[in-house]
Amino acid sequence: MISSSDSPILCRLPRVSIIGAGRVGSTLAQRVAEKNLADVVLLDIVEGMPQGLALDLLEARGIELHNRQIVGTNNYADTSGSQIVVITAGLPRKPGMSRDDLLKTNAKIVVEAAKQAIAHSPNAIFIVVTNPLDVMTYLAWQATGLPRDRIMGMAGVLDSARFETFIALELGVLPADVKAMVLGSHGDLMVPLSRYATVNGVPITELLDTATIERLVERTRNGGAEIVELMQTGGAFFAPASATSVMVESILLNQSRLLPVATYLQGEYGLEDIVIGVPCRLGCGGIEGIVDLHLTDGEREALQTSAQSVRNNIDRAQEILAI
Ligand code: NAI
Ligand code: 2OP
Repeated sequence: MISSSDSPILCRLPRVSIIGAGRVGSTLAQRVAEKNLADVVLLDIVEGMPQGLALDLLEARGIELHNRQIVGTNNYADTSGSQIVVITAGLPRKPGMSRDDLLKTNAKIVVEAAKQAIAHSPNAIFIVVTNPLDVMTYLAWQATGLPRDRIMGMAGVLDSARFETFIALELGVLPADVKAMVLGSHGDLMVPLSRYATVNGVPITELLDTATIERLVERTRNGGAEIVELMQTGGAFFAPASATSVMVESILLNQSRLLPVATYLQGEYGLEDIVIGVPCRLGCGGIEGIVDLHLTDGEREALQTSAQSVRNNIDRAQEILAI
């Protein structure tokens, strides 16, 4: 028999709360727990669903050899004291729908979720995943009143992983040997930086011709829609959850990884009062630095076009929220 102490030591392990227990949220819960990064609270508006998912994940712990707690809830009080809050609540895209079509519904959901979550976890770092990503991150930044280093959006890690995948498939090399960086907004106007893409240090411009690189760039821009068209029942979630877990990991383990992250810009890249994806150093304080890369005129122009489309949608979202 194992006896337990009368005065148990309260071990406070890192807690990651995930608002929205749908496909991205529940897969992220699995990644965070199975990587042994933190205890997880899964919150959703649907009653019973997050509780059922949490129980299912708990029952896998003995097999997956981890001991993280996973709680499913409909109550924000259960998220209190989180180190990280991830917002995945909202509708995903349906076939033929753009990310911007989601604006109206998701703006209200994300603002409400951000306000509720910050009230219970005032010291948390927030990662927004809900689309349209850059706009939702801006709205969540406004709703929480957080400094910009503690609130960010996930998209660039996913878009870069897609670009890397297509390069690896084209060249028949190990995906992990390919490194690429995609900046800009999460959508058709994202800015994949081919110049900076390498296979173990060898620039892809030495390995592929311009037309092939352009084809891979286009496939990357269309990466989310390609999966929506194939699945017909929602969007991607495995790679999005993996991409988000990398950000969670870099923060919780203070890895200081340099990743493309949607962040609030205050003059970097010549952009002001906008959220867009740029290279950031992610550590235990959140965004610990923004790298202001030297871009070619074409790349800078593409980033500005991308930012202008986010600006237009922020304005539209603010009109909607004011109604
Ligand atoms: P899903 O439909 O599977 O899950 C969304 C969940 O949010 C549902 O369980 C729903 O009940 C919940 N929800 C709705 N309103 C809520 C509220 N007020 N409070 C709490 N929960 C609420 O969708 P999925 O596939 O998980 O995608 C989630 C979001 O992430 C979508 O907006 C999608 O477009 C976006 N996404 C963004 C990516 C990125 O790279 N930034 C990649 C993949 C998805
Ligand atoms: C994606 O890129 C839908 O934004 C989502 O897969």
